[in-house]
Formats: sequence, structure tokens, C-alpha cells
Amino acid sequence: MKARIILLPGDGIGPEVTRAAHSVLERVAILGGCSIDASGVPLTREVLDSCAQADAVLLGAVGGPRWDDPQAAVRPEQGLLALRKGLSLYANLRPVKPHPLLLDATPLKPAHLKGVDMMVLRELTGGLYFGNPRGRDKVDGRLRAFDTMEYYEYEIRRVVELAFRLARGRRKKVTSVDKANVLETSRLWRQTATDVATGFPDVTLEHMLVDTASMRLISSPAGFDVLVTENMFGDILTDEASVLAGSMGLLPSASIGEGGPGVYEPIHGSAPDIAGKGCANPVGAILSAALLLRHSLHLADEAEAVERAVDRAITDGFRTADIRGTHGTEEVTEGIVKRITLR
Ligand code: IPM
Ligand code: MG
Repeated sequence: MKARIILLPGDGIGPEVTRAAHSVLERVAILGGCSIDASGVPLTREVLDSCAQADAVLLGAVGGPRWDDPQAAVRPEQGLLALRKGLSLYANLRPVKPHPLLLDATPLKPAHLKGVDMMVLRELTGGLYFGNPRGRDKVDGRLRAFDTMEYYEYEIRRVVELAFRLARGRRKKVTSVDKANVLETSRLWRQTATDVATGFPDVTLEHMLVDTASMRLISSPAGFDVLVTENMFGDILTDEASVLAGSMGLLPSASIGEGGPGVYEPIHGSAPDIAGKGCANPVGAILSAALLLRHSLHLADEAEAVERAVDRAITDGFRTADIRGTHGTEEVTEGIVKRITLR
């Protein structure tokens, strides 16, 4: 099979973890701080165009102290957001399923983690991240900043529908997370989710307020199957959910839209503190490559083979420091690559 895949390693540990996933896939372009340095913008038209023509994009991470000035007009993260918007990637899938041998790597009691297997589905091209107007002005001589939280009904519907379709292949439960006791967008979200649910009588829908959800993620995480929520809530809750797995470095994500190429990236950031040291956990990037195989190339068996290899490598003790191991990025990668067997 021939496929065109663009790798966007980005900044910090992004390149290291992407190099790891690159032992499974190939090809390179730039995004983020490195693109700002090279061309003045975090995502060039050319890179966006070539991504749009690719079958899939495997991304590392963007951002770092060099480009962190809050006053800066151009920031690496804008490149990531422009890529998501430019490719209409409205759904971000973040699966969380702790490895049984890593339960002691989390700060939670292992008993709470038994049976945790959830798919967090985050809306990715709407809400506060993209709403207008946004900006700063002076009102009565006082400096003010504002962002807009907005959602169209169709934006909510398409991501919630995907949540229900995913739930059908799992434990048939959707938890829709909102702040309907305060926000108008959340009331539209809840109303739309309730309406979508009528088309999926075999799936149970539960509504949960985001503050409750943040508590339940820690106190009773096994109760979640598919959790679907808006962009900003999803950003926050997925960092929290990553704690359940033992390390952010373990978690992959898939950003998908309608038909076009998907973007696959680990959920961790560029981790400038450890960049270049060869100790970054490559698992999040490698599992992102597995999601790429499954969702963009429809190679389910191959995706599973990669996921099984990761499981086995961790079982066999191939671990980076973030999960209390002593191996470097390359050793763990090799351990995984050696364990890939197609059934
Ligand atoms: C994520 C990240 C990004 C986000 C940042 C880097 C803009 O935190 O993918 O979760 O907020 O979406
Ligand atoms: Mg985030």
C-alpha cells in the first residue's frame, strides 16, 4: 500500500518522539516555533496545502520558551490551531486505558483505576479557541480582554454523533460534559446531545457538568466509556485524564474531520526541560501512529499490532523515566519495534 504521510515534529521533545514513531512511518515538513524561525509564521500555506493533500499527518509537539512571550503576535500554538481549522478537524479522540503494570506509576490508588478504559472526544474547531470577537480594548479607561465562546448547533451535532458511533463499538455509554447551569452554549450542547441520542436507542446518554466530571475522572474514572465535550473543557479534562494512565507521555490522539487527512499527535507538549536528552517517552507518538493506521489508512490489524507491541514492551520493562523506568527514547522504541508481529 502506498500512502502520503507528512510528519510535523515541531519543537522541544516533539522531534525526538516523532523520530521514534518515524521508525514506523516516514516524511518531514515544519510546524510551530521552528517554522516561525524559518519563515516568520508557525504554519505556512505550503505546509498546510501539502498536509491537505496527504493521507495523514503525524505531529510531534509545538511551543517552547523561545517563543513564549505572551506579547508576541506570532506563536507556535497558532500553527497547530490553524492546522486543525484548515483541515476542519472537528473531532479529537483521546483514548485513556492504563496499562495494568503501570498502575503504580500514577498518584491514584490502583483500586480506583481498575477497569478504566475511556475515549475522550474533544470538539476541536469551535468554542473559545476560535470564537469571535476576541481581543483587547479600553472601556472607561480600563484595559479589558475578551474571548467569545460560540457554538453552532451543527458543530455540536457532528461531534456528538461521532461519540455515539464510537460508543456503539464499545460499552455503549456516552457522557456529554457541559456547564449547562451557567453557559448558553452548554444549554445548546445539552439540547443537541439529547436530540442526537434519540437516533441511538441502543446507547445510554448521561449529561454531566464539567466540574462534576473533573471530580469523577479522579474519584470513579471506570464509570466513563465515551466522554464528549467542547474544545476548552476537553483540553483541560484530557490533561487530567492522562494522569490515570501514569504519564502524559503515553497518550496518543487522533484529530479527524470529514473525509480529509487526519492529524495524529501525542497529547503531551514540547517539554523543553527534557528536549535533546534522549529520554522522552515515545509511546504517545507511537500510539498516535497506530491511530493513524486505524483511522486514516483503515489498517486495523496493523494498528493493533503496534498497540500490542507497545503493551508487551512496557510489560517487558521498556520504560522511560516518566513511568519510573531507566530506558531512553531509542531503547524503548527499539523494544517496541522488535515486538511488532502481524497476526
Ligand atoms: C492540546 C494542547 C493545545 C490545545 C495547545 C498547544 C494549543 O494543549 O492539544 O491539548 O490547547 O489544544
Ligand atoms: Mg492541552
